Amino acid sequence: MNGQMRIGIFGGSFDPPHNGHLRVAIAAADELSLDKLFFVPALAPPHAISKTLTPPDIRMKMLRELSRRDERFYIDDYELRRRGPTYTYETIKRFRKRFPRAEVFFVLGSDSLADIPRWKKGAQLPDMCRFAVALRPQSGVAALIDKAVKLKVRPPAVSSTAIRRAAPFTGGFLSGKVPAAVARIILDNYLYVDEAVAAYLKKRLDNAKYRHTLGVAATAVALAAKHGADPRRARLAALIHDMGRVMPSAKYPSYLAPAPRPAGMPSAETAAANPFLLHSFVSARLAQKIFGIKDRVVLNAAAHHTLGCPSKSSTVYDDIIYVADAVAPDRRFQGVARLRREAFGDLSRAVFLCALMKLGYVLKKEKYLAPEGVAVYNSRLKKIKK
Ligand SMILES: [Fe+2]
Ligand SMILES: [Fe+2]
Repeated sequence: MNGQMRIGIFGGSFDPPHNGHLRVAIAAADELSLDKLFFVPALAPPHAISKTLTPPDIRMKMLRELSRRDERFYIDDYELRRRGPTYTYETIKRFRKRFPRAEVFFVLGSDSLADIPRWKKGAQLPDMCRFAVALRPQSGVAALIDKAVKLKVRPPAVSSTAIRRAAPFTGGFLSGKVPAAVARIILDNYLYVDEAVAAYLKKRLDNAKYRHTLGVAATAVALAAKHGADPRRARLAALIHDMGRVMPSAKYPSYLAPAPRPAGMPSAETAAANPFLLHSFVSARLAQKIFGIKDRVVLNAAAHHTLGCPSKSSTVYDDIIYVADAVAPDRRFQGVARLRREAFGDLSRAVFLCALMKLGYVLKKEKYLAPEGVAVYNSRLKKIKK
């Protein structure tokens, strides 16, 4: 070796960073005799613009846990700080400027290598640096890797996508796939639960109900942004709000019976007259059991979306999910446009109007009028008349 510095760049979303990344990083540093290996988390990969990534600060936290493993590892957060997507060729150019005399390697998995021709200035990249590739089993990109350094390491069969979609999410699924500290960050922040929930529902709900759920989620996120709530919590509550509909309503009473009665649950009389009203409480229970969601605010918001929550005990999330469910894009009833406008203006008034419309509908259909719904209406009336 002629003493020339050797630098590795390992780019990716790292959402989450996992043991496969770690194996490849260690192998690259060893096999290429790197002095420094930089993880370069992307704000959003330009070729996957539509994907919603975990917020940068949480991804950085996870990556710091990973990079702690080896003193040759560094993190370059330029792309995250710059707050705009960066093309790989810009990243490589930046590193060449920073280390003008170094040999620069770009480390990647063979599945990313297959994408290079679609990257901006992709054809020029092999002249700017050397590629070092870790071949995943069964990758079919042999023709593209002629010029690349092939790492001997065989990365374990773990991918960020598989981790994000795994359901049920709790239990031992993460062990062995990500370092324990990363697993803790994932579970503490409910990362990827929404993706796992969506995958679970897609399998079990009919298309119209599944699309309704996604519509409520999108509406809840928009309402959260408008009314100063956390869009991630609102989205999670919306995604679980109709989970109870994966089972027939005849099963609701027996499913809910063994555990203590949750606050706000309709009386036995109401439930007997209209068992469907229990579905939102089943949703909260299922979300807790299957996905380990413990956030009471999120669970309550889902549980209260049918009958509403009296103003004394409600949170902004209760109001958002209650209204989002009523004004989701698939809803078509007289007055929905007005309710939608109100939802993005005065949320309390929207909740009141929604309770009013629900009662009006029940009366018109000559159905059982749940006293719990009337109580919500009265408390909301009092609130807006104050
Ligand atoms: Fe519902
Ligand atoms: Fe719904």
